[in-house]
Amino acid sequence: MSNLMNTYGRLPVEFDHGQGVWLWDKEGNKYLDALAGIAVNAVGHAHPRLVKAISDQASKLIHCSNYFQISLQEQVAAKLLEHSGLDAVFFCNSGLEANECAFKIARKYGHQKGIKVPTIVVLKKAFHGRSISTLSATGNPGVRKDFDPFMEGIIQIDENDLDGLRKLAKTNKDIVALMFEPIQGEGG
Ligand SMILES: Cc1ncc(COP(=O)(O)O)c(C=O)c1O
Repeated sequence: MSNLMNTYGRLPVEFDHGQGVWLWDKEGNKYLDALAGIAVNAVGHAHPRLVKAISDQASKLIHCSNYFQISLQEQVAAKLLEHSGLDAVFFCNSGLEANECAFKIARKYGHQKGIKVPTIVVLKKAFHGRSISTLSATGNPGVRKDFDPFMEGIIQIDENDLDGLRKLAKTNKDIVALMFEPIQGEGG
């Protein structure tokens, strides 16, 4: 019996530690970590520079909120802008928050153009997160079940239907954004 809310179908394996691309469970079995925390552990496990950076920061200041100047955020943002060619960075804690931010930017853009219900086009087999807005943009009935009503201003289309998308864009003047995963996960 677990004390945790039953939100994930967890496998009966508990990892103890990792090194680079390798993981070890509590029984000492070694695994190649091909999942990488669902593609978020980009630099692997226990990299000495990452461990040092986290430990140095934690020993100085654990959190101070975004009400104050944070020069390290500025430095990281400068690097991200240099590599992406984009205009500004928004730091957040999770994928769904990044997507919420994207919805808000798209909706604001739509309202500035005088559109009452700014509409975002997504793929039917997409996965964008588990908050109400990102579930609204997620097709999988298994994760949507029991959580309606969903957000308005979302149109779901089939993947690879470029003609359908072109037709939609011509006829629906409320469309402000197209959101899709460049690498299809749940979509296959
Ligand atoms: C493609 C995609 N988008 C969004 C999310 C949501 O990210 P998070 O779990 O960090 O909120 C996930 C999570 O697995 C994802 O795979």
